[in-house]
Amino acid sequence: MTTHPKPRPQSSPTAPDPVRKAALGQFMTPPQLARFMAGLFPPAPGVKCHLLDAGAGAGALSSAFLERWQRGELEFASASVTAYEIDPDLRALLTQQLHAYAGADVQIHAGDFIELAAQDLLWGTSEPFTHAILNPPYRKIGSHSPHRLMLRQVGIETVNLYSAFVALAIALLAPGGQLVALIPRSFCNGPYYRPFREFLLSRTAIRHLHLFESRTQAFKADDVLQENIIIRLEKGGQPGPVTVSTSTDASFADLVSAEYSLDQIVLPGDSERFIHVPASPELHTPEQLLTAMLAEVGVQVSTGPVVDFRLREHLRDSPEAGAVPLLYPAHLAGGVNWPLAGGRKPNAIVHNSETEKWLYPTGFYCVVKRLTSKEEARRVVATVIDPATFPGAEKLGFENHLNVLHERKQGLPEALAHGLAAYLNSTQVDRDFRRFSGHTQVNATDLRGLKYPSRAQLLELGAWAMERQSSTQDEIDERIAELTT
Ligand SMILES: C[S@@+](CC[C@H](N)C(=O)[O-])C[C@H]1O[C@@H](n2cnc3c(N)ncnc32)[C@H](O)[C@@H]1O
Repeated sequence: MTTHPKPRPQSSPTAPDPVRKAALGQFMTPPQLARFMAGLFPPAPGVKCHLLDAGAGAGALSSAFLERWQRGELEFASASVTAYEIDPDLRALLTQQLHAYAGADVQIHAGDFIELAAQDLLWGTSEPFTHAILNPPYRKIGSHSPHRLMLRQVGIETVNLYSAFVALAIALLAPGGQLVALIPRSFCNGPYYRPFREFLLSRTAIRHLHLFESRTQAFKADDVLQENIIIRLEKGGQPGPVTVSTSTDASFADLVSAEYSLDQIVLPGDSERFIHVPASPELHTPEQLLTAMLAEVGVQVSTGPVVDFRLREHLRDSPEAGAVPLLYPAHLAGGVNWPLAGGRKPNAIVHNSETEKWLYPTGFYCVVKRLTSKEEARRVVATVIDPATFPGAEKLGFENHLNVLHERKQGLPEALAHGLAAYLNSTQVDRDFRRFSGHTQVNATDLRGLKYPSRAQLLELGAWAMERQSSTQDEIDERIAELTT
């Protein structure tokens, strides 16, 4: 490879306008992170590389890519770059930056990538790309916005600019094309991103996931990075092992990586197509063995059906004849405290033909609060509901801020309720949940998407928990590790 004059060092835009910065999602990739991302592309000897950089900013990502190419590491026959940038000031920097790479053919498009890419896809006017490197803008797309309509015309249904950029880039790639993107990990779960996950999983193979997390208490992973993930996809690739790497921050000084089968990332039979990002191997080997879905355990999860403002006339402050217990999260502070005298929430609901369909038969249940405060030690807080707390009650009401784990709308075997609660209260579930969801809310879909030990293991765990008055977090975590390894 011939040597080319060194481009000038990456310049950061001077004094960016903060309003425009937020509106256009202008968060530039630092050089070390850009180099890591560029480093994820496998060499492709003799290929005529055509790189897409959408929302290119001042060109950090393309620069890192072209530098690797110039060092001869990617072994391409030639390289061209097509970059899209909407902001004229950044575009000026981008132009200067990329034209400094002699030998690379550079095209810079002024304008809105979504609009231009959707037109290209509709008219078939773009040369397919062999590579794409993205740190796209993040912003919600309104359901009736022009962006949403343009995307719909090319078969893309999605709710945020970042997923729109990735979906368009996938559509613009040639078969075998490689894409590396730094994106929020919110797409990995939740119902809004399901069409995007389906789009991605049906057209590409996930080859690499990198996440930022600390493996020791002493080093906290970078807060901003922690919400993000780096993903490498191969268009039309055969499903195969997925490399998962982690590091505390963008210095990548403590990088570790391990291989997982695709089944461990996207669980077979999961209609939600959640993308599970396993933790670093030395943290939880047992996790790899936890592959049962809640449905395989024979348990369902529902949101508490009593929506109090709709049933106001049937609510009662205190238990009374003809009324049954009603449970709110307030009743579940460190165990079940019912009835709560002088509390702000009702304790009972009248049992009649109107409320009947919102009530569960009294029995053992495991309930999980939907909301926990940021200060609470765990996001997932599970409690066993024991019918002995409600002598004489035939039915139970669960308010809408609770999730209820049940068996076909009936109670659970006692040991299973205890096993589920112990498991859901483990450090491992909490860590998984935080990794996989940026929200403090825990919804029924989230609980359905978690991995679980088998029903037999949960029953054993429950029997163990029932024998003890109480267990420390470490004891629970150790017992789960013993059972699942
Ligand atoms: C998160 S920044 C990243 C910039 C660059 N890729 C990097 O990694 O440093 C996203 C960039 O997308 C640009 N952008 C935002 N909306 C755009 C759109 N609709 N079309 C093209 N570029 C857009 C912003 O101006 C910003 O430069």
